[in-house]
Amino acid sequence: MPAGLARAGQDPAIAASHPLAAEAGREALAKGGNAFDAAVAVAAALAVVEPYSSGLGGGGFFLLHRASDGFEVMVDGRETAPGRASVSLYLDSKGEPVPGATLNGPKAAAIPGTPAALVYLSRKYGKLPLAVSLDPAIGLAREGFRVDSRLAETARHHEGKLRAYYETARAFLRGGLPPRAGELWRQPELAATLEALAKVGHDGFYGGEVAAKLVESVQKAGGVWEAKDLEGYRVKERRPVKIAHRGALITTAPLPSSGGLTLAQALNILDALPGSCPVDAEGDHLVVEALRRAYEDRARFLGDADFVAIPGARLSSREYGHERARSIDRDRATPSRGPGETPKAGAQTTHFSIIDADGNRVAATLTLNTFFGSGFVAGDTGVLLNNEMDDFTLRPGVANVYGLEGSAANAIGPGKRPLSSMSPAFVEDQRGVLVLGTPGGSRIISMVLLAILEYRQGTDPEQVVARPRYHHQYLPDRLEVEPEGFAPEWTATMRGKGHEVRVAPRKWGNMQAVFQDKHTGKRVALNDPRGAVYTRY
Ligand code: DON
Repeated sequence: MPAGLARAGQDPAIAASHPLAAEAGREALAKGGNAFDAAVAVAAALAVVEPYSSGLGGGGFFLLHRASDGFEVMVDGRETAPGRASVSLYLDSKGEPVPGATLNGPKAAAIPGTPAALVYLSRKYGKLPLAVSLDPAIGLAREGFRVDSRLAETARHHEGKLRAYYETARAFLRGGLPPRAGELWRQPELAATLEALAKVGHDGFYGGEVAAKLVESVQKAGGVWEAKDLEGYRVKERRPVKIAHRGALITTAPLPSSGGLTLAQALNILDALPGSCPVDAEGDHLVVEALRRAYEDRARFLGDADFVAIPGARLSSREYGHERARSIDRDRATPSRGPGETPKAGAQTTHFSIIDADGNRVAATLTLNTFFGSGFVAGDTGVLLNNEMDDFTLRPGVANVYGLEGSAANAIGPGKRPLSSMSPAFVEDQRGVLVLGTPGGSRIISMVLLAILEYRQGTDPEQVVARPRYHHQYLPDRLEVEPEGFAPEWTATMRGKGHEVRVAPRKWGNMQAVFQDKHTGKRVALNDPRGAVYTRY
């Protein structure tokens, strides 16, 4: 049986960042749904139980594999810039960027794509009525759920953001206090919006009363959304990026995610370098140098290919990777050009992975961008809006919250999708299929790369999602490593090669993966130990 072909009849597996969301997915499967229905159920439940990470006010990418015919596609529910968006919204009278302008409040919000993607997925690929798949999420919002410690801690940490707008405070603070662990948390307004989506479909969010409230509240608070921005929102089907690497086939996100092209370039560079495995400092040095070059090209060339010409074929070609590899010195780090800016901490997003009993697969990464997005809840819709406008490049040399710089290719433009790093992926080889992804802003791509390389070493999948991480993104020219992840000798070798090694204050990412063993057909869900949700009190 060729790699990647599932054996029907095995148990399905769902890995999600919250147990209640995984449960919602299992419920959809139990009602006769497939992985695509389960994805709708999981995504909608996450909007309720993990409101700081993703939700109806955000966007994301769903990478799909249909078992019956091997068809693969990425459903692109990325947010789009509103029609009246322009760089001047974020600049002061001297033309300088206003700090925080692309991150806070309704001006920071792009037009949401997640509701459209849920409707689309359900209608085009699912078996269940949309209302059935949304039912668990509606129940969680209407009847409430017990607040876990992660939600409680996150809300406490971001209390200032939750107080900044009246409607946000109303939605997230009770008696003036953020949700506390163990408390029953109800969100009746969000439940009503989910019900409108369930009942009406696409126009339940992008038209009618909900859309009117979204536009009115955004405009009243100084934003530029118009009814036609919502009316005009459409998901796009994109052909995934496919990368052949040392006997494995990797399927991942195309533009407007930078993930696919950046991963392809990094893997093609490594392909040219014998010994480039993340098993020791010598191999890791080569991985870091590959990341440096791939992220450099991300900044130089990438943006929304519906609006600008991108040399994608060349960037992802083996020849180009090999050419780029020639400038790598095995003994010395290649200095990046420019100082770069320190990425700020404090960001969230979510990823889940599913394989159903028939072998249909979904890898989905969804986001509001940073924790609680823009911090703006639109009127009484219960919908917290994203701050995805920060993923655009204000101007060359100005970094975003993740320290990412970019070029005119990723400039703000009406209807344009901001460049993303979200990289849902499938890896197929002689061992089986790994479905994976993670949150983490600019670090998503290095995390997915490390996971692929680790998996390809033959490592136990449990260890793949847990392995220590390092990250380099060209600028700032710095090798960030997780605390307690690497031996002093490793750090000394990297420093000796000229890398500025910085130990990060905390670990990063929350990888959620599903592995299907090709030989036994058995499927397992793999949860990143970093993302544990504590539901016992
Ligand atoms: O699309 C992107 O690349 C970002 N908006 C994702 C944000 C993210 O992963 C934050 N997570 N920690």
